[in-house]
Amino acid sequence: MTLQELHDSIKDCQRCRLASGRTQVVFGTGNPHAKIMFVGEAPGFYEDKQGIPFVGAAGKLLNELLEGAGLSRDDVYIANVIKCRPPDNRDPMTDEVETCKPFLLQQIELIKPKVVCTLGNFAMQTLLGKKVGIMKVRGQSFQVKDFFVFPMLHPAAALHQGNLNEPLREDFRKLKAFLDRQQEPVPPVEQMNLFG
Ligand code: URA
Repeated sequence: MTLQELHDSIKDCQRCRLASGRTQVVFGTGNPHAKIMFVGEAPGFYEDKQGIPFVGAAGKLLNELLEGAGLSRDDVYIANVIKCRPPDNRDPMTDEVETCKPFLLQQIELIKPKVVCTLGNFAMQTLLGKKVGIMKVRGQSFQVKDFFVFPMLHPAAALHQGNLNEPLREDFRKLKAFLDRQQEPVPPVEQMNLFG
């Protein structure tokens, strides 16, 4: 299955109650071969209208942070855990997550990113499967199968709570450092002082 085929297969999804209130399924956008993927919570008002994740105020901040880390939206792939807008942007319900999560996991399988950056508590808990708080794990990498999960604060949280703005920027600096470390060549074995 290709990413496009997966998208086509859920365009008219009626599996949960969110189908009745959405304008369209917001599948995801960006480079289908991206090494870095970003995962948010669910589409908001503008995302629902345009069919593209992170195009509202949080998206503008995300674009700026990506640029600061030397990335652009064309380099990365951006999606959400939940593909349809919850009414009045309420939190997704457990059964909605259970219904939609397999599509996120299939996107990850098809794109094969090396790093999946989760934005906010919700995406982090969905992918790490832990009831841990975002403040404990943000800015660190966790190996999951053949990729790393890198939890970060959600840009919308920083817009609503000014005191999270600097911590969010710190998360992106840590991401850049992590990505730079991944790119460093492994030294040839004879340079590793393994034999004294
Ligand atoms: N917040 C999200 O989590 N996802 C979006 O697509 C937009 C805002």
